[in-house]
Formats: sequence, C-alpha cells, structure tokens
Amino acid sequence: MNTSLLPYAFAYKHHFFEQSLIVLADCFEWMTRVPEASIHAIVTDPPYGVKEYDFDQLEKRANGNGGLWRIPPSFDGHERSPLPRFTALTETDLARIEDYFIAWAKSALRILRPGGHIFLASNALLSQMVFTAITHAGFEYRGQVIRLVRTLRGGDRPKNAEQEFTNVCTMPRSCHEPWGIFRKPLPNGMKISDCLREFGTGGLRRKPDGNPFEDVIESKRTPQAERKVADHPSLKPQSLLRQLVYASLPLGEGVVVDPFMGSGSTIAACEAIGYTSIGIERYEEYYLLAQKAIPALARLATKETQMSLSLI
Ligand SMILES: C[S@@+](CC[C@H](N)C(=O)[O-])C[C@H]1O[C@@H](n2cnc3c(N)ncnc32)[C@H](O)[C@@H]1O
Repeated sequence: MNTSLLPYAFAYKHHFFEQSLIVLADCFEWMTRVPEASIHAIVTDPPYGVKEYDFDQLEKRANGNGGLWRIPPSFDGHERSPLPRFTALTETDLARIEDYFIAWAKSALRILRPGGHIFLASNALLSQMVFTAITHAGFEYRGQVIRLVRTLRGGDRPKNAEQEFTNVCTMPRSCHEPWGIFRKPLPNGMKISDCLREFGTGGLRRKPDGNPFEDVIESKRTPQAERKVADHPSLKPQSLLRQLVYASLPLGEGVVVDPFMGSGSTIAACEAIGYTSIGIERYEEYYLLAQKAIPALARLATKETQMSLSLI
C-alpha cells in the first residue's frame, strides 16, 4: 500500500492496491478537495455524451430500453453490446456538454502541476467541440493520439431506406479513436527543463528504447480476456492504456489520476507498469467492479505492451 496517497481518500469509501487508490466519489466534488498543483497527469475516458452515464440512462441500458444506448445492427449472428448514440444529442445537449467540459477542465487545471498533461479519450463526432472546451478552460492543446481501431460506429445505410440507397452510407465507418493531449501552461518564462526539475512535468516520457512517444497507436477492440474480468460498456484495452500512462509521466514518477475510472482499466495499467495512481468513480457498481478487476487486468500480459514497452 502506498501511504502517500492516504490524504486523497478524504472521508470517501476507498480501497488501496499496491501503488494505487480508488475512491467512490463524484470527481467534481473530489477535485475541489485535492490540494492545488499536486497531481502530475490525468489519463481518462470521460462520459462522452455526459448523459449516457446518468443513473436513469444506465437503468435504460440494463433493461434494454434504448434511451441513449442502442444495439448496433447484427449481421453475423453475434450478440452485440449497446453503444451510446451520440447523434441523438440535441443542440441543448451539445451546449451542456461544452459547459460540462469547461467546468471539468477548470478543476483539472487547478489540481495539476504546471506542465502536467491530460490524455482524454474522445470520438470523431465530439472531439472537436470537447477539445476546444478544454482549451477554453486554460489548457494548451498539444495534439492528439490516434488509436487505430475499427468500431461498429457509422457506415450505416440511410435508416428504413437501406434497399433504396444501397450505395450510400450516412457517415464514415469509424476506424480511429482520437485522444486529446493537453498541458497545463508552464509558469511564465519557465523552460521545459526547469519545469521537469521543479515539478517533474512538462514533457512526455520517451519509449523504453529511447524513441519518442508517437501519436498513432495500432490497436484492436478490447480483448475478450479483459472484458471477462471487467464487464464495463466502455472498457479500454490494457495494451493501449499502458502506453498512454507510460508517456504521461516524463520522469516516470508522480501521480496519475483517472477521474472517470469506470472498471479501473487506467489504474490497472498504472499498476502493471509500477506507476502510482488514483481512480475516481461515482457509480458504486463500477467502483466495486474496479476493486476486483484492477489486480486481474494488471496481471494480464499483452503482446502489444510487451513489444512496445518491454516491461512485463
Ligand atoms: C466512459 S466510462 C470509463 C470507462 C473506463 N474507460 C473503463 O475502461 O472501465 C466513464 C465512467 O465515468 C463515470 N462517471 C461519470 N460521471 C462521473 C463523475 N462525475 N465522477 C466520477 N465518475 C463519473 C461513469 O459511471 C463511467 O463508469
């Protein structure tokens, strides 16, 4: 147990692993309690439509009742999990998402050390708006990581007119997932080398072979072995997350936070590579799932991680 994380548990229900802490809390509330400039990096996969993880929407998903969750068309006899339907968002929803991310990023800006990075999962439909919102809160935009992955989103023929317009798709089939990279500005006039010395932040960690971290990562859908231990609708693969968290601490030291932890895949990735981390989740069912899933996910060896990080 890493006792240096004890002050971040406050009075919330929490659980310790070897290097990490998970907390059952609303991250907005938790962040107001965290001391200013104490966190080195944030790696997270937020609730993208904001509404899809509201308790009423999760209930609709569990009952197979639709709402913002839809079942992708089945064409090969396999049962598919519901996906959030971002195209169902109205103008008002979109404005709400923008306000939400500005407010969230302002809190993140306060708790991060100068030069601290955020890696933020996104999708092709909403990334432009959300990334702009994060910069409105005061972050520098530092590009994006493109996770090459084929999802089942997009590429459909016009609804109820599939036979009439066989050669049309309403939007591209998504083959990538953009992750925004943001940095808290360095103090005026400070050089990156000084920021690294003073705060342990400011840059990204190179790969173990000395090559720079790259912004395209070949990936696959989350493997079945990982889904088995962490049945969360937005589970991200260990092979990807281990590379992202590795890069997020330039000196390999400090604290990584995932404020939208879900089943704990980011925290498991940190545990797997020996990083210190804190995960926050407000939905008790997922918090309890994370408690079980983190050690199991962390133990999984992935071929891609072995090749790219040579750590396990
Ligand atoms: C997109 S999922 C992340 C899933 C994660 N990538 C995984 O692999 O399990 C977002 C998570 O954030 C949680 N969440 C939503 N709003 C929250 C808040 N205000 N504070 C903490 N957690 C929140 C949701 O319950 C959901 O589990």
